[in-house]
Amino acid sequence: MGSVTNLKLAMETAGFGESSEERIFFTGPWSSDDRTRHMRLQARKAAAGLMREFVARGMETESHCERVAIWARRLARELGLSSERVLDVELGALLHDIGYISLASVDFHRESTLSHADLFELRRHCELGAALLYRIPVLRRAIPLVLSHHEEFGGSGYPSGASGVAIPIDGRIFHLVDAFESMTSDRPYRARVSEEDARIEIASQTGKLFDPVVEAAFNRIDPVEWRGLVASVG
Ligand SMILES: [Fe+2]
Ligand SMILES: [Fe+2]
Repeated sequence: MGSVTNLKLAMETAGFGESSEERIFFTGPWSSDDRTRHMRLQARKAAAGLMREFVARGMETESHCERVAIWARRLARELGLSSERVLDVELGALLHDIGYISLASVDFHRESTLSHADLFELRRHCELGAALLYRIPVLRRAIPLVLSHHEEFGGSGYPSGASGVAIPIDGRIFHLVDAFESMTSDRPYRARVSEEDARIEIASQTGKLFDPVVEAAFNRIDPVEWRGLVASVG
C-alpha cells in the first residue's frame, strides 16, 4: 500500500476527506501550499472543539476571534512570512485567549472589581494557553502568538516584558490587529471609534505598543480590502 493511500486512509479515519477542499488535496502533486492547506484543515478541526468550549463559556465571541485571525493572516502575508508561518499566526490569533479556559474560577467580566490577586491570576492566561496547546501537537504552532500576545514593543507588556524584535513577530502582528479590532468594535463598556481614528491612535502608539515595521505593512494594505476581508464575519 503506497504512502499516499496510507495517509488517505489515516485521514479518512480521522474524519477528513469529506469537503471539496479536502478532496482537492488528494488530487494533483503536493506543493508546499498543499501541505500548508492540509495542516490548516487539521489544525482548524482541532481548534474548533476548543473554541466551542471557549465561546460557550462567554469568554470571547467567535466573531472577534475570527476577525483577528483573518486580519492577522493578511498582515502576516503582507510582511512576507512563509505560508507555514502565516498559518502559525492565523491559528495563534484564533486561539489567543484560550488560556482563560484554565481560569474558570475567575469571573473576568467583572474586571473593574477584580482584586490585584485576580488580575495577577488573569494575566496567567498567556502561559496557561501555551501549556494547554502544548498537549495538542497539531496546535503547538500557535504557541508563540498565544504566549506573546500581550507583550508591547516598548517592553511594558506581559508575561515576559520583552521588547522590540525579541517579541515573536506573531505577537507583534497580533498586538496591532487586536487593538484595531477592539477599537473599531462596540464593547459593552464603550462605543466603537471610526477606522480613521483607530489608525491615528495606532500611529501615535507605534514604537511604544506596536512595531513600526508591522504598522508600515498595515498601512500598505488598502483599507477597502482590509474591511472586505471580515465583511462576512458576524
Ligand atoms: Fe489575552
Ligand atoms: Fe481578544
